[in-house]
Amino acid sequence: MWVLQGTIFLLFCTLVLSDVYLHNPRGSNNRLDENTANRKNNNRLFDSQNNNKGGYNTGDRFSSEGGSRPERFYSMQYYGSGPSSSQEGSKLMVEWTNQHGCGSDESKLLCNLVIQYMCQSNGTHEDYPRGNGGRWDDVEERTLYMRDGTSTDTQKYSEPRKGESDRSYSSRMEKNYEDNSDYKEGLHETVYWYDQCRYREANGGLFTADQDLKKDKVGYVTASRTRQNNNGDRSGYECPEERDYFPYWQPTMQSENLDRFQRTPWIDLAWMGDKSKCNYIKQNSFNRQSKWRCVLSRDSDERPYGRAINEEDCEEEGGNWVEFVSFLEVLTEVTSESACKAEQRKGTRNKIFWTKLRSDDSKEYCVVQAPEITCDEAPWTRVNHLGNSGDSKSADSSRLEVELPYFPSGEAKRCTLRLRYNITTADYDPWTTDSKSNDDDDVIENNPEVDVLENGDELQLALNTAQTGRTFQDRSHVFVVLPRTPEMSNKRIYNLNVRGKRGNIVQTFPAVEYDFIPDKLEVSREDLVHVQWTGSNSHDNNNDGDDGQGKGGTDRHNMLQFRSLDENYPVKISQAGFWDGVRSLTDPDATGEDIAVGLATSGYYCAKRETGKCPSKLTSSRKRNLDDELDNAPASYFGHVLKFTKSGTLLYMCSRNNNFSNRSQKGKLIVK
Ligand SMILES: *[C@@H]1O[C@H](CO)[C@@H](O)[C@H](O)[C@H]1NC(C)=O
Ligand SMILES: *[C@@H]1O[C@H](CO)[C@@H](O)[C@H](O)[C@H]1NC(C)=O
Ligand SMILES: *[C@@H]1O[C@H](CO)[C@@H](O)[C@H](O)[C@H]1NC(C)=O
Ligand SMILES: *[C@@H]1O[C@H](CO)[C@@H](O)[C@H](O)[C@H]1NC(C)=O
Repeated sequence: MWVLQGTIFLLFCTLVLSDVYLHNPRGSNNRLDENTANRKNNNRLFDSQNNNKGGYNTGDRFSSEGGSRPERFYSMQYYGSGPSSSQEGSKLMVEWTNQHGCGSDESKLLCNLVIQYMCQSNGTHEDYPRGNGGRWDDVEERTLYMRDGTSTDTQKYSEPRKGESDRSYSSRMEKNYEDNSDYKEGLHETVYWYDQCRYREANGGLFTADQDLKKDKVGYVTASRTRQNNNGDRSGYECPEERDYFPYWQPTMQSENLDRFQRTPWIDLAWMGDKSKCNYIKQNSFNRQSKWRCVLSRDSDERPYGRAINEEDCEEEGGNWVEFVSFLEVLTEVTSESACKAEQRKGTRNKIFWTKLRSDDSKEYCVVQAPEITCDEAPWTRVNHLGNSGDSKSADSSRLEVELPYFPSGEAKRCTLRLRYNITTADYDPWTTDSKSNDDDDVIENNPEVDVLENGDELQLALNTAQTGRTFQDRSHVFVVLPRTPEMSNKRIYNLNVRGKRGNIVQTFPAVEYDFIPDKLEVSREDLVHVQWTGSNSHDNNNDGDDGQGKGGTDRHNMLQFRSLDENYPVKISQAGFWDGVRSLTDPDATGEDIAVGLATSGYYCAKRETGKCPSKLTSSRKRNLDDELDNAPASYFGHVLKFTKSGTLLYMCSRNNNFSNRSQKGKLIVK
């Protein structure tokens, strides 16, 4: 019987992959730039539990593939929010599909969604890790610098063993930093974070049903194993226990001290689920609440983190129970409490205060904390379906408009956004059932056979206890949050982007076909709109087909005015009246017509004539003509931040991808 159950369990593990897919910002589902329909490595950066076919490639800057050169890839660049909390939001429409339903009294399961992000100083091109240089700078860059990478391999790791001495600890970690963290491979969490996870005891209070979690090489079950991940598999440097539970009980610091890039912990943006839990979620979100962990030593040659997850065991282990505060950034230039208070007076979006980053620090800093997590109901979706939400009158997929962070330092940051979708059965109360009910068949057991007929003929239920609570995940590629320019102050910024990838509806699934997002946007004349898109040159689905216009495997977009949403002919630029009332904040010399030329050619011609931001080289007559399907235009375009001098409505379409009866790519922008 035991053997049989084992077999069933394996089947479940390999076949029942289900899903949450992030469509804007583009979710990677662990893809990098592969030219296959399936991603190559489902453990590249995180554990998604998704189907191999989902996800979008990282963007390419030019009309050819980025290959092994990171500077040839394109990261989306959004302007951040401003310091005040209401009028200065920079708005990004997060859009996703989730497969098992959520968000209604009719929901057939318990569920919640969590959105978080992690950032660091972007630095300059020189900071991007390169090669295997042995200087501390190089090592630091390889171990800390968040990146998409240029290879689909997973970072390597060497794990602690039972009774590891400080000496072996420090030589093992040296290897993890110097050799195992590879510059070619993507990096979200750091190896420092994962090593803590592989040493810290698993939370023994959690309900693991009848799942048997095996001991790790350290001699006990660590946080790298959970009911869902009982074999201790590693995905990037993500900690499985932290992945499965939210709010997590440990600080999610990615390095021991404030590092050169100011790597933040995970910052909580939004939780969507049962609203009666909102107080609990807010009170336990790390954004504004300290978290504690066991610190063994602050000497760099000794193990810094303990095994214990509570104060009593930590003291027994010879450690110190230390309080950590979360930070969005630390204003190192601000060196006094009064100057720090002055920073807070500039706006209420963030909390800015003078404090120690950890209670065993001697020094205090001016610490910036992100806004409190927002908490609301989840969008209503039905089960067994990756489609639109029942809440949306305009039949959109599940969406949440979020505001990007504001960094008072004025530095550019690189960040990644993470979406988790968590489903639980209500056969037991997940909020009150704990380890006391483990192995209790009356609570739940693996794939039970039930005697409903009461005659001994049993019926088989398919209930895998490893998955009666299950978390799915998707993450964005790295994107950059730019500081605002002075002209943007007191303005809302709406990000207008493109979702989808090349292929027809079957070939792209479970990703989606092209569309503008948001494809209907209504703003006031005071607002700003940043039009920007990114695409790949290697979205080739191999033999699975990549229908679409232009060169195989390539994404291209443009934006042309047209007359009526149900028509398909664009109007000539000289007659496209909307642009008369438009100027660019990012290229003040550009006329409306210049902007229209840039958007029509995806930046192949940056303007009709030379402007401040458009050197004559780009309009030179020696440049080859634009390909009629944009093949020689860049796959990604930073576009313009538009400001408006008149009200009006722009109906726009993409000339390449819009293919009547096969695919539509059109949008509407109303300026009131
Ligand atoms: C961000 O960093 C990359 C290098 O990774 C660099 O090429 C880019 O110019 C930087 N962007 C900004 C706005 O600082
Ligand atoms: C998922 O839900 C369970 C309760 O049903 C909770 O214990 C766990 O923390 C949640 N995990 C995440 C990532 O939301
Ligand atoms: C429109 O799409 C169909 C199906 O993908 C394709 O066969 C056809 O060639 C496309 N039309 C153009 C003008 O590219
Ligand atoms: C749409 O696609 C079909 C084939 O799937 C093709 O026969 C038709 O010509 C396409 N329409 C256009 C405008 O190309």
